[in-house]
Amino acid sequence: MAELFDAVDVIRVKRDKGVLSQAQIDWVIDAYTRGVVTDEQMSALAMAIFLNGMTPVEIRQWTAAMLNSGERMEFAGLGRPTADKHSTGGVGDKITLPLAPLVACFGVAVPQLSGRGLGHTGGTLDKMESIAGWQANMSNEEIYRQLGEGCGAVICAAGSGLAPADKKLYALRDVTSTVDCIPLIASSIMSKKIAEGTGGLVLDVKVGSGAFMREMPQARELAETMVDIGEAAGVRTVALLTDMSVPLGLTVGNALEVRESVEVLAGGGPADVVELTCTLAREMLATAGMSDVDVEAALRDGRAMDVWRDMVAAQGGDPDCTLPVATHTHDVVADADGILQDMDALKVGVASWRLGAGRARQTDPVQAGAGIEIFAKPGERVAKGQPILRLHTDEPDRFERALESLEGTLNVSDAAVPERGSVVFDRIALSRQARKE
Ligand code: URA
Repeated sequence: MAELFDAVDVIRVKRDKGVLSQAQIDWVIDAYTRGVVTDEQMSALAMAIFLNGMTPVEIRQWTAAMLNSGERMEFAGLGRPTADKHSTGGVGDKITLPLAPLVACFGVAVPQLSGRGLGHTGGTLDKMESIAGWQANMSNEEIYRQLGEGCGAVICAAGSGLAPADKKLYALRDVTSTVDCIPLIASSIMSKKIAEGTGGLVLDVKVGSGAFMREMPQARELAETMVDIGEAAGVRTVALLTDMSVPLGLTVGNALEVRESVEVLAGGGPADVVELTCTLAREMLATAGMSDVDVEAALRDGRAMDVWRDMVAAQGGDPDCTLPVATHTHDVVADADGILQDMDALKVGVASWRLGAGRARQTDPVQAGAGIEIFAKPGERVAKGQPILRLHTDEPDRFERALESLEGTLNVSDAAVPERGSVVFDRIALSRQARKE
């Protein structure tokens, strides 16, 4: 059968700063998935988009075309509303672990289809896999059953059937320097999230050195673009802009972060992790029509913990297992008396990665026990020799490279440090009026 378009003509439109038609977008994504549009041609188109951008309508159509390249999950028959969360990724970001059971204990199903870590940011599946026996892979039927008749929360691997065009395109962008392009990032994330079939979606868009978006204007533009795409696709979507200039909480690394998540589920845990978990939970419940819910009470009284235990056990995990601990530790201590001035999230994330908690390629293994414990945060007074960080690894020859990545941060002096306020900087949502239009 003759093809509807010629890839060269489609590339020329974007090269010359034109606007692609819906038919051109549908064709190019479909033809790329079928292998008719070659990697060379898609690379040229991705670079033209990188350089010349896309209109909001083009972005929505591009997302829909990627969504339509694969299967779409359907939860309408569950008998409960669904809500999901996506984080753009950060250091120490373990929020999904306490959040999914917390939201589910209010009767809202949480289909949290997740990925593995790459580079300095950790992956939810890697964290969960430090629990003995826990299985990331589930069939669609098993997901449906756990959400409907079971505990109402699932954290599992996203199947390869969701948005296959994105899988191919993301790998190509990775090797053609076209990843950091807001229309392509937004459509990539949203095509997968919409394919998951959730009714409500809360986006945690991180800002700061440890985040994908280092500066506020870019983070805001990404958040606004994703909210626009979600709402246009009929998913109630809200975004929060949150702080990723310092690591979240007091642990970075797989088993260490599970330990901290369980502390939060037991009613404790660091204030910033509790604040973000509760704020995101309220937002997710609001997308399902539940407002003014006392989510803190469900952490205090054990309801969220009960769902966590059921969720872990339903996927073969032992909620009472002893978490893996690395065989070697090394303390990084304060070099003077004074106030801790800084703790760069990127540097700590890279250090944890080099200790073995993260991977450079999708196929690399990770160490469950590797990572970093944090004993003081910026603004706290420390004494010379006092441990600020404890590095954990099974391979002590990794300490040197991890320590190198911490150079230039963890400075101590007498200068006052401005108090760190809320981790939530802003909230982006479509106005009610805009939703009606
Ligand atoms: N995460 C995604 O899923 N896609 C992108 O393009 C960037 C981050």
